[in-house]
Amino acid sequence: MAKSKSSKTWLKEHFDDEYVRRSQKDGYRSRAIYKLIEIDQKDHLVKPGMTIIDLGAAPGGWSEYCVKKLGKNGSMIALDILPMDPIDGVTIIEGDFREASVFDMLMTAIKNNSSDLVISDMAPNITGMGSVDMPRAYYLCELALDLAKQVLKPGGGLLVKLFQGEGFEAYNKELKLSFSRVVMRKPKASRARSREVYALATGFLGNRF
Ligand SMILES: C[S@@+](CC[C@H](N)C(=O)[O-])C[C@H]1O[C@@H](n2cnc3c(N)ncnc32)[C@H](O)[C@@H]1O
Repeated sequence: MAKSKSSKTWLKEHFDDEYVRRSQKDGYRSRAIYKLIEIDQKDHLVKPGMTIIDLGAAPGGWSEYCVKKLGKNGSMIALDILPMDPIDGVTIIEGDFREASVFDMLMTAIKNNSSDLVISDMAPNITGMGSVDMPRAYYLCELALDLAKQVLKPGGGLLVKLFQGEGFEAYNKELKLSFSRVVMRKPKASRARSREVYALATGFLGNRF
């Protein structure tokens, strides 16, 4: 079947992309890894021995990066609606995070219910209609925050992908109720034309709400 003009444009942009080329050269699973690397270099998020939950983890760049830094005392759980190739040292859960049964599966995997860091790069399939995409995206963000509040140790952190626009300010306010510090990060690997930014919330205040 002939490729449409938009899919040809996407393919060209993808293969011309500096971070796609780098990830192929460096042997990483995705270009997304460079976003986390840049944030971690600045904010020192990932430390040996931590327990980390990676939401929307496939194909696995972020998990791949974290597990290397965690060492043998760390623990890493990755969840995605899509199948993901195994990564040594990572427990993988396949399922839709919006489903209660999948949320429960994750809670069971986090044995002692205490984690240091929740990272979420989840994004819904984009339709191009803001009135559909933004509520879908913020629903996933709400679920990530809900999980973080249930599993984080006091002082823990949440790194979550947000989209600028409707819902952004309200979510930001919600983060500030539960964390002592909230900053926005736009790593270089995040395309300039994309509305995505990463909220980094640290110093979890405990489940007071
Ligand atoms: C940008 S990709 C993540 C890339 C990943 N951070 C990496 O480093 O390879 C976003 C992921 O969110 C996942 N996702 C979207 N909706 C989801 C849902 N409802 N439940 C679980 N995962 C979801 C997608 O399947 C996709 O793999």
